[in-house]
Amino acid sequence: MRSDSVLIPEEEMARQRDLALEVKALPHRPRSYFVVTYGCQMNAHDSEKIAGMLEEMGLLPAPRREEADFVIFNTCCIRENAERKALGNVAWLKEIKRQRPEMMIAVCGCMAQEPGMAERLLKQYRFVDLIFGTSNLYRLPELLLSRLNAGAPLVAVDDADTLPEGVPVRRLRHDAAYLTIMYGCNNFCSYCIVPYVRGRERSRREEDILREAEALAAAGVREIMLLGQNVNSYGLDSAGKPLFPSLLRRLDQVGIERIRFMTSHPKDLSNDLIAAMAESAHVLPQFHLPVQSGSDPILLRMNRHYTRSQYLDRVRKLRAAIPGIGLSTDMIVAFPGETEADFEETLSLVSEVRYDSAFTFVYSPRTGTKAASFPDQIPPEIAKDRITRLIALQEALQRETLSRFLNQEEELLVESVSRRSEEAVSGKGRHGISITLPGGAEDIGKILRCRIVKVKNNTLIGERIP
Ligand code: 5AD
Ligand code: SF4
Repeated sequence: MRSDSVLIPEEEMARQRDLALEVKALPHRPRSYFVVTYGCQMNAHDSEKIAGMLEEMGLLPAPRREEADFVIFNTCCIRENAERKALGNVAWLKEIKRQRPEMMIAVCGCMAQEPGMAERLLKQYRFVDLIFGTSNLYRLPELLLSRLNAGAPLVAVDDADTLPEGVPVRRLRHDAAYLTIMYGCNNFCSYCIVPYVRGRERSRREEDILREAEALAAAGVREIMLLGQNVNSYGLDSAGKPLFPSLLRRLDQVGIERIRFMTSHPKDLSNDLIAAMAESAHVLPQFHLPVQSGSDPILLRMNRHYTRSQYLDRVRKLRAAIPGIGLSTDMIVAFPGETEADFEETLSLVSEVRYDSAFTFVYSPRTGTKAASFPDQIPPEIAKDRITRLIALQEALQRETLSRFLNQEEELLVESVSRRSEEAVSGKGRHGISITLPGGAEDIGKILRCRIVKVKNNTLIGERIP
């Protein structure tokens, strides 16, 4: 039974902190950890919380998973291949654990929360020590302590819609940070498993978000990425009016240089949000607006609550208010019943919008979702043909779209030394597009100005401006 959304009381969070110290004092506790993360930014941030809690329990990061005393698989189940990959990697550790029986293994995240998955894991992956779902993440100190004292596999995957505050975080980056503003999703798009594994929408209190943003600013963080499955419906008030635009306006005052957010649902993209972005000094001119399909009958069966023309209208409004805005999207091909004509509608929408980037997926049936039982599932060879054509079109258009940046000035927050060359660094520009330019490790965390001199695939090549 799903219980109502709960803000976890401060006493319970304090109890978890005490339990963490109890684990730390245990002589037989694991000494090192390794978190393997799959999936989206939300999961990446959950892994930062897992690492934060484990470090409070005295564990140190291990360089490689095979060497760790405690390996945590933070899994994703959005598509079947994500799940297959995670299970394959869990299975791979079985042999290592045979050689090092003291090694502990946990499976957590969205896949662990899938109905029936915990039972399957217990049966087929007997060497797994601990299974916990997204709603029980904050209880890791308690769960690890119980597991260490019990000696038998432990499962905690109830689906309460928890809202914990004050979980310790070990951030992977010092210059940019994730900041969750809401959890869960109420939309039930017919293909999507997220509402089943992450529960109903619940928003953090504005003062908690602002306090966290202020602390990040004080720690020198230069960019925050606000996270939620549907940030646009953050803090729906009793009249159903979303509070995201006013949250953005307040965050804009905190003094963090760059503010981004993800993900938005087109049906909830209000004029007020567009106005808030346009007025703000720090919210970056970029928008990730998943369209999923360009065909009205498919959008209807996907339960998306907008039409192609409503979507295009929002794109027009965004571009009118924020000229040059960077636009990206998600699209699914071969949704059940998608005809060639439906698919061509998606192609024509892509030609019309001209996205700066697009994540394209082949529809993957997920047990328990509505679309999994729709008739007319599309054969894999048709799906493959469609995704190939969609990617080819997007790539061809992207070259043209990105050339609007040629000879323009941009600004990037340097994230890393480039994978291809030690004399180049890369990061995201203000419009959300990757930029590479000459530089070295000393530039990481700096905001650099540059002039774009070349477009290479989905990356802009820049020259530094002093
Ligand atoms: N099959 C394929 N793609 C999916 N997505 C969500 N569920 C599925 C599915 N069952 C895609 C959507 C979403 C993105 C995060 O993943 O495009 O926006
Ligand atoms: Fe899934 Fe739709 Fe919710 Fe996004 S809005 S998480 S696609 S159900």
